Amino acid sequence: MTDVIVGLDIGTSNIRVAIGEINEEDNVQIVGLATRPSSGVRNGTIINIEAVIASIKDAVEAAEQNAGLEVFSCVTAIGGSQVASYNSHGLAAVANKNHRSREITQQDKDNALESACATIIPLDRDFLHVIPQDFIVDGIGGIKDPIDMMGVRLETDVHIVTASKTSIQNVTSCVNRAGYELEKVWLKTLAQVQAVAHEDELDMGSILIDMGAGTTDVLVLNDGASVCSLSIPVGGNLVTNDISIEMGIPFNVAEKIKLEAGCCFEEALQTNYEVPIPGVGGRPPEMATQLDLCDIIQPRVEEIFSMVRNEIVHKTDLRRLDGNIILTGGGAQMPGVVELAQEVFGTSAVRPGIPENLGGSNDEYRKPEYATVIGLIQSQKKHCGGSDKSSRRNIQLSGKKDNPLKKFLKQWF
Ligand SMILES: Nc1ncnc2c1ncn2[C@@H]1O[C@H](COP(=O)(O)OP(=O)(O)OP(=O)(O)O)[C@@H](O)[C@H]1O
Ligand SMILES: [Mg+2]
Repeated sequence: MTDVIVGLDIGTSNIRVAIGEINEEDNVQIVGLATRPSSGVRNGTIINIEAVIASIKDAVEAAEQNAGLEVFSCVTAIGGSQVASYNSHGLAAVANKNHRSREITQQDKDNALESACATIIPLDRDFLHVIPQDFIVDGIGGIKDPIDMMGVRLETDVHIVTASKTSIQNVTSCVNRAGYELEKVWLKTLAQVQAVAHEDELDMGSILIDMGAGTTDVLVLNDGASVCSLSIPVGGNLVTNDISIEMGIPFNVAEKIKLEAGCCFEEALQTNYEVPIPGVGGRPPEMATQLDLCDIIQPRVEEIFSMVRNEIVHKTDLRRLDGNIILTGGGAQMPGVVELAQEVFGTSAVRPGIPENLGGSNDEYRKPEYATVIGLIQSQKKHCGGSDKSSRRNIQLSGKKDNPLKKFLKQWF
């Protein structure tokens, strides 16, 4: 028997599923992968439950076929406007009865974290993550793990991520009604960090930007922890919309042209061939050069990056971030995107976020758009711990799909 973790990414334009098998050496191997068009999601938010259920079933079944095993449960992620975050401070007294210092225990650490969460959050929100940034023992900060240190007073700085209860209920309901158990909901960008970021980048201070179709989600990390997460409610769909309006063509035709010939930075254009722009309603087709397309795309992507930069400058200190800007999501595949980000953020330290090589026969997952599903598998594996596999509910049994024993086990689970 092998443990299996399934990552599900319910995006605005695509639903992605990755199936990861944990081998004997406790390493992940991606054995199943599928992408299906998403429907019922707008700007990262579920707006039509039935449509999302159908898309989830479609995508998971495709991944099951690909992997040759049956899925019972999965982990998923949310982002966009459904998520909010803020920093908080917690404090716990450690001293014994005689006011002398003693060794700090896990209980003290939990008390400090709990006190940091004792802030009032609106009734319609739930905690998604409480991420410790720093521990301070008797006024001395910069401590990653205070356990076993001597002290009388333990403080902590944490980054708290909350999500609207409705959004968590909606995603849970969609996954359950599609026939799968939902193990955990992660913050999308936090999951991605596991797949694409290196430890030194996190320590030095880096920015992860997920360039999706409906949203652009951002996570700022410093000293190895998240310091700020934010979301801009626009993404690649807005770029396609611009092409559609400027060229007077339907959205899906504009999307096709964007993917075929689009570039978002003039100096990065390698060629300048002409693309036919189909005429609508019997109008004859016209020709447009790649440069014409770039003139439409570049200002919009530049505007999105500028919005991200302004938000970050507003919420944190950009100068303290000496690591990299890591671009993920489908939009990170647009030619010229790295160069444009370099210009807007005024740094050469920009790179696409490609999930690390996890082995396996097929490395199709090594694209920025798979960062969420691969990150979900890695985050969940880390979360469950090396030996405690209790929450890994998918068990691969020998034999093909539709094995009666597996059917029985699915009902049993
Ligand atoms: N090669 C490419 N060049 C330019 N844009 C691309 C390319 N590939 C994908 N995109 C764009 O990326 C977007 C889709 O990315 P992705 O699949 O990450 O979004 P999503 O997860 O469905 O949306 P969201 O995260 O906003 O909910 C679309 O706008 C698409 O046009
Ligand atoms: Mg996405």
